[in-house]
Amino acid sequence: MQITYNNEKSIFKIDTENSSYIMMIRRNGYLQHLYYGAYVSDFDLEYLITDMVNESFSPWAPSAGVKYFALDIQPQEYSCNGTGDYRVSAFSVETSKGNSSTSLKYLSHEIFDGKKGLKGLPSTYVNDKTEAKTLEISMKDEVSGALVILSYSVISGFDAIMRSVRVKNNSDTPFFIEKVYSTCVDFNDKDYDLIHLYGTWAAERSIERKPLIKGIQEIASKRGSSSHNHNPFIALVSHDTTEDFGSAYGFALCYSGNFSAKVEVDTFDQTRVIMGINPEDFKWKLFPGEEFTAPEAIMVYSGTGIGGMSRQMHKIIRKHICRGKYKNIRRPILINNWEATYFNFDTEKLLKIAKAAVPLGIEMLVMDDGWFGVRNDESASIGDWVVNEKKLPGGLSALTKELNKLGMKFGLWFEPEIVSFNSDLYRAHPDWCLHVDGYDRSVGRETAVLDFTRKEVVDHVFNMVSNVLRSADISYVKWDFNRNLTEVGSDALPSDQQKEVFHRYVLGVYDLAERLTSTFPDILFEGCSGGGGRFDCGMFYYFPQIWTSDDTDAFERCKIQYGTSIAYPASVMSAHVSASPNHQTGRSMPFKTRGNVATSGSFGYELDLSIISDEEKEMVKYQVNRYKELYNTIVCGDNYRIIDPFTNNRWCAWEYVSEDKSQAVLTYVVTKSNIKGRYLLKLKGLLPDAVYREKESGRTYRGDTLMNAGLNLGKDFQDGDSEILVFDKI
Ligand code: DGJ
Repeated sequence: MQITYNNEKSIFKIDTENSSYIMMIRRNGYLQHLYYGAYVSDFDLEYLITDMVNESFSPWAPSAGVKYFALDIQPQEYSCNGTGDYRVSAFSVETSKGNSSTSLKYLSHEIFDGKKGLKGLPSTYVNDKTEAKTLEISMKDEVSGALVILSYSVISGFDAIMRSVRVKNNSDTPFFIEKVYSTCVDFNDKDYDLIHLYGTWAAERSIERKPLIKGIQEIASKRGSSSHNHNPFIALVSHDTTEDFGSAYGFALCYSGNFSAKVEVDTFDQTRVIMGINPEDFKWKLFPGEEFTAPEAIMVYSGTGIGGMSRQMHKIIRKHICRGKYKNIRRPILINNWEATYFNFDTEKLLKIAKAAVPLGIEMLVMDDGWFGVRNDESASIGDWVVNEKKLPGGLSALTKELNKLGMKFGLWFEPEIVSFNSDLYRAHPDWCLHVDGYDRSVGRETAVLDFTRKEVVDHVFNMVSNVLRSADISYVKWDFNRNLTEVGSDALPSDQQKEVFHRYVLGVYDLAERLTSTFPDILFEGCSGGGGRFDCGMFYYFPQIWTSDDTDAFERCKIQYGTSIAYPASVMSAHVSASPNHQTGRSMPFKTRGNVATSGSFGYELDLSIISDEEKEMVKYQVNRYKELYNTIVCGDNYRIIDPFTNNRWCAWEYVSEDKSQAVLTYVVTKSNIKGRYLLKLKGLLPDAVYREKESGRTYRGDTLMNAGLNLGKDFQDGDSEILVFDKI
């Protein structure tokens, strides 16, 4: 990794292990992008720019000092609105005079060791200054007085560039930031496919890959959270890029609210990518002397296909975003009562499940929704975080004492950002939820969303949740969030700041998450939003795992987990074995396969263990022990996707290889057996010369044989058959 500045040519060059990123100050201060891609040794790539084209019908910028310097054609490093570049713009301010024309010119720069944190926002971090280098370039808009600091960091060992943007108001009048994207990259060509992860509740992160078209495509959320529907991750890959070959650029936003990723192919066959806070419903009043920080965008480059891109993302998330006690140690294997009981539980029922779980090796009981207030269905009590002693006599301490006697840890469910209309909290403070006077308060699961722009609201929730967490021996919290934002207004802000509410809300969520996770460092926090509705790099900073989806059907989970793995590692994907027929799809699936699929994540169970058969209990024991044994390879290893369930309707397969390549864990699941024939597959990522022994059969193979000739699984399968095969280097 290195960052250099060539004084003579005014060129910045950022090098990671295998990629280069080059930009140049040209024409009286315009910062122009020259190159992003595979490593190049030359820094002077100015020759790639074509200056002075007078055929574009695009007005040119006189301050550039030459005729026909049209910003519309020129590659920009951080594009502005309204001054000649008609493509999608990354930045724009509205001045006190009401204009939105913005133009940023280079002012100064600084290169230093280490990487700064982002105020109030999650971001990648390093533990030691020597692990990272940062370049900060200050740009200035003369008219508004906006000082914009573009930050670029690289972390040793990664082909990743972390970008963020700060805006300072250096004038003596307020101005409004209309948009402030976190990254902007201009590619010199258009020959890419766009990959993004779309979905819906219970079907998150399906993979979509389509060639770019001329014009603008946008992947975005304006739901207040990153959403089930579109994930804040996109990739641009060459048309011929495959899972294992070719170049791939990944863009991920460390942000959990409204986001926008736009890709524009212009009429000159150039491509621009911008990603950041969604400017729709956003406008930020910046007072003199104040600073606004935009979230961090992570850009990864891979010359080894989509798989290489994913592995880069996985490692960054595991090593430089996730924090806390459970970052590196195995997390407890849990039993969650939700699908076993829903709201219908009491201490007796929970203990019955716990007693069945302990001899099977399960380490923690998680009590889901319904333990507080008078909540016996969805209609009441969220916000009233007081134990329902009718269900749980003696409160949480009585329950946890019993669990501790059994040798079990205990965790519980909260939904901190939400308030039920039928709750003491709402009756006491009807103004504490987001609302706009004159409009109905839209109903989502009988609830409203609390106004987390208000400190007193966040403080109140912090105190209530903290009191519960202090009241007993609690090891885990599941932080749920079951509705999207509507009527996004706050009583606490003046009219010209109402468009700040979406972002201030997210800052309030991060504030609460930071306060709770730092006050209770021994508690493992798991994120959730009706499953995977807020599954993003922002959340992983606080929650090292997130409930991947409410759909626990093993076939569906193959797709959901496979799609999720495009950007995110197994360590952050919570995955549970649930009952059959499955509650979401009605599909029946062998216990073995439900276990095999859930093993590729943060593992647990979500069914009534007290009523399963003895044979199934034996399977649970086996699965639990195997998970403990394979944990390091699956959760801390490298992921290789082998057969894609989105394009192959017959079966799917994926593999994890330990960092030292001494173990590989291969999982395959047959999704449609009526196509008979041979089942052959090739492993990936092994040491070619090493000898690996397949655990079950004892058979040995060379790494190159497994990767090139492959394995013959060789028999006819039934729908839902699956296997986990373990290969140990001998
Ligand atoms: C949605 C979650 O995704 C489920 O796992 C469960 O916790 C319910 N909420 C409880 O209301």
